Amino acid sequence: MRKPLQSIVVLTGAGISAESGIQTFRAADGLWENHRVDEVATPEGFERNPPLVYEFYNQRRRQILSPEIRPNPAHSALAKFEHDFLGNFVLITQNIDNLHERAGSKKLLHMHGEILKMRCLNSKLVFDIREDLVFETECRCCRSPGNLRPHIVWFGEMPLHMHEINLALKGCDLFVAIGTSGNVYPASGFYQSAKIARAHTVELNLEVTGSGFDEHVYGKASEIVPAFFEGILSSSG
Ligand code: APR
Repeated sequence: MRKPLQSIVVLTGAGISAESGIQTFRAADGLWENHRVDEVATPEGFERNPPLVYEFYNQRRRQILSPEIRPNPAHSALAKFEHDFLGNFVLITQNIDNLHERAGSKKLLHMHGEILKMRCLNSKLVFDIREDLVFETECRCCRSPGNLRPHIVWFGEMPLHMHEINLALKGCDLFVAIGTSGNVYPASGFYQSAKIARAHTVELNLEVTGSGFDEHVYGKASEIVPAFFEGILSSSG
């Protein structure tokens, strides 16, 4: 008989939020909302042109806060699973939106930062933000303008929570990646760490990504994610 699952790690990417109306990153034209990635998602881009970077993330923030953007059944299924599963469950997301927490997920690691947060360049303290962020916005700790940046991990920067993520991967017996193209390191290597820990690895995606998971389920996240996690709960009694 198969041993019951004790520890599950899930990694989500832009594909889980696509059906909520948020565009994924790797569109055919290689641009992200009409910008080159190095313009808006690198520390050098921010140094070169802070107003452009502020405005880019202001637009993303306004979009996330607009009433038509809501969690979809895939986000809800993960929140329900976290609540119902008796073992250890860790949800890691590459997404900067807040749809997992709005769906009710609790134990959530935003490895690429959060669009509804900003960070002081001096103190590194992190604050919530819902309004636009501009050069003149006063930092809440040092009270001076120009000291804030979006709390987003840009290319060339270290992702957040890596210690906790590595510990979770080392101890898991099931690793599931949902809606991620596997193009961005280190998240693209998580399934290999999980395999080293002898975990079963599963990819849930709209299309083939060419990665070496043990099992693949193809389809829309809003359909395959609820079915997959309900299946685990019913087979674990
Ligand atoms: N259901 C399931 N999967 C989907 C859906 C859907 N409805 N729509 C798209 N996908 C899949 C695509 O097939 C693709 O494999 O989601 C994946 C999205 O890939 P990317 O756009 O590359 O997004 P992601 O993997 O999250 O990007 C990683 O790159 O630019 C950086 O920091 C940014 O966090 C981001 C990181």
